Amino acid sequence: MQKKTNQELMALREKHVPRGPFNITSMFVKSAHGATLEDVEGKEYIDFAGGIGVINVGHCNKKVVSAIKEQAEQYIHTCFHVVMYEPYVQLAMKLNEITPGDFPKKTFFVNSGAEAVENAVKIARYATKRPGIIAFENAFHGRTYMAMSLTSKVKPYRFGFNPFCPEVYRMPFAYCYRCPFGREYPSCDVYCAGYLEDFFIGNVAGESVAAVIAEPIQGEGGFVVPPPGYFRKVKEICEKNGILFIMDEIQTGMGRTGKLFASEHHDVVPDIILTAKSLAAGLPLGGVTGRAEIMEMPHVGGLGGTYGGNPIACRAALAVLDLLDTELLTKSRDLGNRVRAQFLELQKEFEMIGDVRGLGPMMGIELVKDRQTKEPAAEKTKELARRCLDKGLVVLSCGNYGNVIRTLMPLVITDEQMNKGFSIMREAFTELTRG
Ligand SMILES: Cc1ncc(COP(=O)(O)O)c(C=O)c1O
Repeated sequence: MQKKTNQELMALREKHVPRGPFNITSMFVKSAHGATLEDVEGKEYIDFAGGIGVINVGHCNKKVVSAIKEQAEQYIHTCFHVVMYEPYVQLAMKLNEITPGDFPKKTFFVNSGAEAVENAVKIARYATKRPGIIAFENAFHGRTYMAMSLTSKVKPYRFGFNPFCPEVYRMPFAYCYRCPFGREYPSCDVYCAGYLEDFFIGNVAGESVAAVIAEPIQGEGGFVVPPPGYFRKVKEICEKNGILFIMDEIQTGMGRTGKLFASEHHDVVPDIILTAKSLAAGLPLGGVTGRAEIMEMPHVGGLGGTYGGNPIACRAALAVLDLLDTELLTKSRDLGNRVRAQFLELQKEFEMIGDVRGLGPMMGIELVKDRQTKEPAAEKTKELARRCLDKGLVVLSCGNYGNVIRTLMPLVITDEQMNKGFSIMREAFTELTRG
């Protein structure tokens, strides 16, 4: 193929691909290794985005690449429903073992995060024979119809795509920086969790609810971390009412927060736990893991799909889990401490950083026009990400107001790359402050 510039490729993209599938940058990649990306024109970037939280073990990790190659030479696809293969079962066994909860579990595989969410809802409804699903304000669960119905933000995710799936109810979340109840932690005694009981009075009866679905840290919603005790209380109320608790660990899982699963930080054991993104280091794979007795409920043939748990994706995921079994988790914790320290330093220097939050290296900063009023600084956030990109750092924003900068860098990032990334960010903040 003849070499093309970013601009030439962009012209082709615009001509042949609709605008709906959005692009955060206008560059095309030539190669990616570790925490570095190189574009088709030879410009290098430090990657703080990791393909939106997918590349925890680093781009083209050698162990993952060799597992993929080896598998591709043996067989690529038979369809698990037609001719079974060992990597699928091995991976299910491994996820049953390492996910929170000391009870028998079962796992099956799909192709994406959204599909994992869809299936968790199917299983929860089947198992409880109840229709209702409670999701949260600020939540993001994907773009298929049920996943979108559970997702909170209107533009761009939901706007114009209604009607949505029925029997979805939305409750305020524990967003302490902008508490929806105007309270303060810890004096609030996590009022927002106890509110679930009021919710049953004014919105949907507890006995009509199949499941509550939550992200342990809201990802697209702005890296919102609920305070200690929040999920324990929510889970307690669920248990009292026969409601299943689904944890969407699609963005937070696989070592992203310094632990294998972020649920562990919250000391909560979900009935169903969802994985995708970094599970297979870039190959399409989603996992639905849950209590064996719940997972066994749907009848034979009620779950599945042509590609779900593709052998190459399963082999990649087994390699990822091996990597997370070694020093990578410790590195993640260490990286988290350093990312937090860097952000806290920046916060001292720049008034516009209203809040620094996160767990492990899954950290976010919320940009505001004024620390008192907390008016979101969305334009500045966009401009900051753009300036970082110009200087060679890919960084993502998120949040209902689009005013949160988040870090999802590969956990294998070197100290030098990390420091360089933060010095780029500091420069961009300095320029923005000067106006
Ligand atoms: C928490 C969460 N759930 C679900 C999804 C959807 O995953 P996918 O894009 O693989 O469908 C995402 C994607 O960003 C996510 O962050």
